[in-house]
Amino acid sequence: MLEAANGLEIGRDLTRANTLALPSVAERFWRARSEQDVMHGLRLANEHDWPLTVLGGGSNLLLPPHIAGLTLCPDLDGLSFRAAAGDRVDVEVGAGVVWHTLVEACVERELWGLENLALIPGLAGAAPIQNIGAYGVELGDVLEWVELIDRRDGRRRRLGRDECGLGYRDSVFKRELANRVVITRLGLGLSWRPRPRLDYGALDQRVPPSPSARDVFEAVCAIRREKLPDPVALPNAGSFFKNPVVSRQRADMLAAMHPDMPRYPQPNGDVKLAAAWLIEQCGLKSCRDGAFGVHDRQALVLVHFGGGTLDELLAFADRVAGAVRARFDIALEREPRQAGEPASG
Ligand code: EPU
Repeated sequence: MLEAANGLEIGRDLTRANTLALPSVAERFWRARSEQDVMHGLRLANEHDWPLTVLGGGSNLLLPPHIAGLTLCPDLDGLSFRAAAGDRVDVEVGAGVVWHTLVEACVERELWGLENLALIPGLAGAAPIQNIGAYGVELGDVLEWVELIDRRDGRRRRLGRDECGLGYRDSVFKRELANRVVITRLGLGLSWRPRPRLDYGALDQRVPPSPSARDVFEAVCAIRREKLPDPVALPNAGSFFKNPVVSRQRADMLAAMHPDMPRYPQPNGDVKLAAAWLIEQCGLKSCRDGAFGVHDRQALVLVHFGGGTLDELLAFADRVAGAVRARFDIALEREPRQAGEPASG
């Protein structure tokens, strides 16, 4: 790897910088430790008309062998807490703070709001992109604003939660603003007042009565450790597919044939199904083909045993999705984004 005079790294190996451990080299790499750094990186990209890839913790991005243009890593720190009206506490966090470190810091202060989102890999700045969610809570439940630098004019902007277009594993940052902005800071609204969210799965059976935020945090950590592979030991990107949402009629028809099928009714009447269950019904749990496989404890997680490439992973994922389509006539949508791919939607 070379370091050019202006601080750009040339030919940076990113194989260890993505949790799927896909072999990948960035043509140019720029680590931004301040807003000014981000602005400088974007100016360079604009001057040279380089395509832009923003890389945080690499836990939800599929990397090709070669990433053309500029890969920018927003590594901005900072974490502050400010008591606001009533029981509310305003939290500001830099994009480069490790998400789980943020959750721990909030739980340590006995603040409520993030405890169900423990152990999600990645950096805080990536959280709004896919509106991270787990155990009945989504980032959108506590997000107040997102600060970003816009590539078009190099300026800082602040988007309120309602401007972020948050949905299930979705936001404007995956669509209209993809590859156009760099998120630098988030504002969250947490609370001193206990507000346990225990309605998902068996969470309520894993905590004592009147649990503390730490009790919930520890239960979530324990459940995740039981099911989800540690990317350091077995590379993966968490859920590889979104849970599909179907009409109630469709869900009723499927449930008539499969009474044990998990179903999660949505506020609009549609029903979210469990992609992991659909994959498992196709007999694919624990299956392996070459370098990739379906995890043996969570069928929604594809794992990389080593030596594979993005193309092989995509071919494997197509086979998994193809089996679900053939058996249930349901299309699975991929969850992690692919670097260099045009924006969705
Ligand atoms: N199930 C199976 N087979 C499996 C795994 C699960 O049949 O191999 C069934 C379970 O029995 C359960 C249902 O599927 O009835 C749902 O399973 P689980 O609670 O493990 O959650 P999930 O729907 O598979 C989603 C998120 C996870 C998040 C969990 C908990 C998506 C795409 N994934 O998974 O998020 O941790 O719920 O809230 O929505 C991620 O996004 O990377 C991620 C891990």
